[in-house]
Amino acid sequence: MTIQNSDKSLAEFRGLIDAIDAEILESINQRLKIAKKIGAVKIRKGAQVIDPERESALIERLMARNKGPLSRESLYHIFKEIITISRQIQTPQLNDYLGPGATAVYAVIGDPVSHSLSPVMHNRAFAHTGYNGVYIALRVGDIAAAVNGFRALGFKGISVTIPHKVSVMDCLDEVDARAREIGAVNTIVNCDGRLVGYNSDYLGAVKALADAVDIGGKTVVIIGAGGAARAIGFGIIRSGGRVVIINRSPEKGERLAEALNADFHPLSEVREIEGQVLVNTTPVGMFPHAEQMPLEKNLLRPDLVVMDIIYNPLTTRLLSEAARTGCRTINGLSMFVYQGAFQFELWTGEKAPLDVMKAAVESALQRV
Ligand code: ATR
Repeated sequence: MTIQNSDKSLAEFRGLIDAIDAEILESINQRLKIAKKIGAVKIRKGAQVIDPERESALIERLMARNKGPLSRESLYHIFKEIITISRQIQTPQLNDYLGPGATAVYAVIGDPVSHSLSPVMHNRAFAHTGYNGVYIALRVGDIAAAVNGFRALGFKGISVTIPHKVSVMDCLDEVDARAREIGAVNTIVNCDGRLVGYNSDYLGAVKALADAVDIGGKTVVIIGAGGAARAIGFGIIRSGGRVVIINRSPEKGERLAEALNADFHPLSEVREIEGQVLVNTTPVGMFPHAEQMPLEKNLLRPDLVVMDIIYNPLTTRLLSEAARTGCRTINGLSMFVYQGAFQFELWTGEKAPLDVMKAAVESALQRV
């Protein structure tokens, strides 16, 4: 009888312990989820992720609160372990960076770069494929000094953005023939100490267009005459398409049209779109001026394929008007992710996880 009673109470106690263990497990997982969110916010804000001072203060606070029978030493071990796991969860790329072995370092350089989505896209791709790399954003003024620094530090690859895509070419050991023809480099690969420049913008643009239309034999009207228009124009011609440039300032537009053997029309004089595809390469419609569009909406026709290289917002006014008109539309996310995928493949030699990269950029855009 006595044995029966004590059996029952033992079972009750075990039930209590099981319930407490389940609660502890739940609490630890909750804590890790929150730590992960904090890490993401800090990374986004460019703040220091690991904060040893705060971690020590936390353990001190718990020790002061502890009434036992847990010893100070045991408390320390338990929370030290939880903090270590939180660190790992908060900073996957930092773990690689701090860990043994050679972590490959990559960067996007430009001015400004603080809003670049390349770090989120490439770090997610590195993490997904298990590649031991880390990708950071660096604001760079003096491009020649920066490139020498990367050489000395052994950076494995660089993405180059405004305003350095042209001037960086003089700082490299070699420029790929296509990038030389385009006159701009947006990707640098460190090949055992030799810095080689490529252009993945044109590849990205062509692949994004090719998802929606067969460019061969088509006439593509490009709005704008800057670096992006130039890269896309060359890409279209290489794919067997014909290009028409329309631009605000005639001098710049005519110069590009001549280089591409294309027709040119001043933007203000355009009365109809004379092709099957329209691509906006100007910043008109970009956040925070999302209400603007680069040309009159009555120029749109339902049979046009309309692409915008702007990805913030994802649906620009041009694209929403085009969709309303009945056009097929391509947003700037495709080109951005495809050009990033070409970079990833040049750097790692591995196939880029396109869907993962796209999802990373999409979710980052939702937080902007
Ligand atoms: P990128 O190298 O990224 O293409 P860019 O060299 O500054 O950038 O080129 C931007 C293009 O957008 C230019 O062709 C510019 O027209 P101008 O040549 O007349 O300067 C065009 N652009 C910029 N702002 C514009 C605006 N508000 N309306 C029309 N076109 C504009």
